[in-house]
Amino acid sequence: MKAILFEKPGSEDVLFWGDAPAPELLPGMIRIQVAATALNRADLLQRQGFYPPPAGASEILGLECSGVVSEIAEGVSGFRIGDRVMALLPGGGYAEEVVVDAGSVMRVPDHIDLVEAAALPEVLLTVFLNVFEIGGLREGGWLLVHGGGSGIGTASIQMARSIGAHVVVTAGSEAKCRRCVELGADVALNYREGDFAESVIESTGGVGVEVVLDSIGAPYLESNLKSLATDGRLVMIGLMGGAKSEIALGALLARRLSVVGSTLRTRSSVEKAALVAGLQTRFWTALEEGRLQPIVDRVLPIDQAGAGHRTMKASDHFGKIVLKVG
Ligand SMILES: NC(=O)c1ccc[n+]([C@@H]2O[C@H](COP(=O)([O-])OP(=O)(O)OC[C@H]3O[C@@H](n4cnc5c(N)ncnc54)[C@H](OP(=O)(O)O)[C@@H]3O)[C@@H](O)[C@H]2O)c1
Repeated sequence: MKAILFEKPGSEDVLFWGDAPAPELLPGMIRIQVAATALNRADLLQRQGFYPPPAGASEILGLECSGVVSEIAEGVSGFRIGDRVMALLPGGGYAEEVVVDAGSVMRVPDHIDLVEAAALPEVLLTVFLNVFEIGGLREGGWLLVHGGGSGIGTASIQMARSIGAHVVVTAGSEAKCRRCVELGADVALNYREGDFAESVIESTGGVGVEVVLDSIGAPYLESNLKSLATDGRLVMIGLMGGAKSEIALGALLARRLSVVGSTLRTRSSVEKAALVAGLQTRFWTALEEGRLQPIVDRVLPIDQAGAGHRTMKASDHFGKIVLKVG
């Protein structure tokens, strides 16, 4: 099969479309002929040699894909050859074929374009895990999410709104803030215009938010804690701004705050299957009714993966960057 490969970690220019052995179908797995994959920030780190795949995972980039089922291991039920599916992957998505545990595979609703569906698995599952399972966001509650125009941000806005929760986002331009509000955010704050904590408190009637979903890390830690309501939860899923910080811990005690860190990729296939099942129970109606949609900034041919990485590095996108295979 063909796949996006690189011989040594480095810039976007190291990526090339070359020959790789087709992956072996193991018990419990499904083979998918890939229609498309989508970019995640983690891909940029992996390409630079900073984020190796977990043990046993493909060395090929790509944490999600959409496509058609082409082979099913003996004993796996619930899928048929030819099904339109999308899947969460521990790696391997930038390729013509993937094999993946059946528990990480989801059917693509009929009305969603198969190529655009590649934009869904990673963001839906990350937001489900961190905002709803760990963060416990409920109807009527408030969520603060940084990078409202990111893949994660655009999914957070839609998922929170779909359960009747309220959302504050931060983003780096007026244009992105406007698009976040069009997508359903109650409030969008341009982080280049100053600290967000006071505006978050004001927007929530002086109370603060129940949940913060943070991917910036150190420089936002203090303001994230200030933005939380009593008993609030800060869930950290990325460290784009830095990893070391010093804070006064008194607020954690006085306002009974929780700070949790989490990654999706390193979880076991059993945990991922439980997340997929939970996501389908709670959010599939919203997806089928069109209240959750893939937000796709652009679709590039897979051999332009490097150009996609450059766009993501510059944060020139709103939503997801999709790579079409074939
Ligand atoms: N732990 C996990 O399991 C997990 C899973 C998936 C993703 N993640 C993490 O979640 C984050 C988002 O991922 P993604 O794939 O959606 O990335 P993405 O689409 O590239 O989004 C990153 C966004 O952050 C915004 N941003 C940059 N600096 C900011 C700041 N100081 N304040 C607010 N926003 C800022 C950027 O746009 P503007 O600056 O133009 O607004 C951009 O929209 C990444 O850190 C990723 O590693 C973690």
